[in-house]
Amino acid sequence: MTLPKLLLPALGLATTLAAQPSHEMTIDATGDNGQISRHLYGHFAEHLGRGIYDGFWKKDSADQYIIRDDVVAAMKELGVPNLRWPGGCFADYYFWEHGVGPKDERPTVVNNLWGGVTEDNSVGTHEFMDLVAELETEPIVVGNVGSGTVEDMANWWQYLNHPGESPMAKRRAENGREEPWNVRFFGVGNESWGCGGHMRPEFYADLYRQYSTFLHGYGDVSPFRIATGPAGNDYVWTEVLMERAGDRIDGIDLHHYTLDGSWTTHKGQAVNFDEGGWFRLMERAMEMDELLTNHKAIMDTYDPEKRVWLIVGEWGTWHEQEEGSTPGFLYQQNTLRDALTASVTLDIFHQHLDRVKMANIAQTINVLQAMILTDGERMLRTPTYHTFDMYKVHRDAIALPFELDRGEYERDGESLPALSGTASIDAEGRIHLSLTNIDPNQSRTVTVSLGENTLKRVVSGRILTADAMNTHNTFDAPDTLVPQLFSGAKVKKGTLTIELPAKSLVTLELAD
Ligand code: AHR
Repeated sequence: MTLPKLLLPALGLATTLAAQPSHEMTIDATGDNGQISRHLYGHFAEHLGRGIYDGFWKKDSADQYIIRDDVVAAMKELGVPNLRWPGGCFADYYFWEHGVGPKDERPTVVNNLWGGVTEDNSVGTHEFMDLVAELETEPIVVGNVGSGTVEDMANWWQYLNHPGESPMAKRRAENGREEPWNVRFFGVGNESWGCGGHMRPEFYADLYRQYSTFLHGYGDVSPFRIATGPAGNDYVWTEVLMERAGDRIDGIDLHHYTLDGSWTTHKGQAVNFDEGGWFRLMERAMEMDELLTNHKAIMDTYDPEKRVWLIVGEWGTWHEQEEGSTPGFLYQQNTLRDALTASVTLDIFHQHLDRVKMANIAQTINVLQAMILTDGERMLRTPTYHTFDMYKVHRDAIALPFELDRGEYERDGESLPALSGTASIDAEGRIHLSLTNIDPNQSRTVTVSLGENTLKRVVSGRILTADAMNTHNTFDAPDTLVPQLFSGAKVKKGTLTIELPAKSLVTLELAD
């Protein structure tokens, strides 16, 4: 029996009562699965395509690059706990000394991997650190192991951080900055198994030991040294690195994108996809759980105290770039599908808090799974931006243990868990619950209890959903897909019932 629209759950999306699956969830409101590190909500800004130039920066009337106020305002609204720079693969084409001093004297460099464009080094260390100050964020600077020397890296570190008399502090002051920037997070190379030098793990482990030795503590700053981590399921990399250099590493930087093969194989379109494309992308995103489980198990052998962080320094969806965009610039649209892969991935991070404490979605503006797209003076917030916005409430909160009957989303004889979620309690005692239904065909009823505590009411709720799987925002219609108020959750006799539409993300604030 199909119900009349008025009786249908939130947003009036079509559904059939008889076919609607029910799920139970029990949240332990007094439990503690660890703090959700704010650094899991980190961002990434590489010199790639229109991420830096024509992204965070634009040219003013005097042809000088200036930071875009609209972009900074949107990102500050979201909150940026950290920002990774200058790459990515570009880190190994980047020589920091080319990016300091008078702009008209800065040498150029060819950005071989990303469109082969000539980088004029207009944005260098000082400019990046100005952006960091405006965003009120914490920088993650990635050094060049693949093509730079130990001296280059050690000097950059000294330039960033030395507080007293030193050759690099003197140079920094001559370039207009007396005070050190006190950078804490430093990447000793990027993807050294690939674009960063095609090294074997044994060789990189030795280089890591060598390079990291010269990153000294200066002033109040002790370096947090991040080693190149594995590509996806390269468990040998993690094993060798932990065995040979684990005692000198603070964080290992795993990268995982939703690619079927490598970045050179066909990746499917961002907007023009069918349900098969929806299913496959969800499946790829969900692989993150297995990767974290297995890499953590290896790390546990060498570091049972869990001192070394497992960082996911690059993650997200990677589609064919938009037709007509510059080759190599990785400019892609972003739909409801991307938004839900983001919520599912954040949920997975929240299940691995014992060691997974930092992550960077790739990348912030105009590149891959971006938060913001720009077109000249215009900008839009992508659906993934809205996922991050709806998940803000979980940052720094305590993850609550829960049991959830996740059900199954079936397609062509394959299946994935239909539901995913996060429950947390913040410092003010507010409980937040996010639930994602990846099933694009069926809405689901979720009945939630708080164990021994009794739920009193739903304080507020927001939902991100749409009729079409590929709904997205355009420059002419930038608010096509934005969170809406959600009225499909009710508390009755201490039990919360949520009518979760097909392909939706809901975040609720609950009072017990
Ligand atoms: O984010 C795009 C690229 O993906 C990065 O430059 C590289 O580190 C990764 O392979």
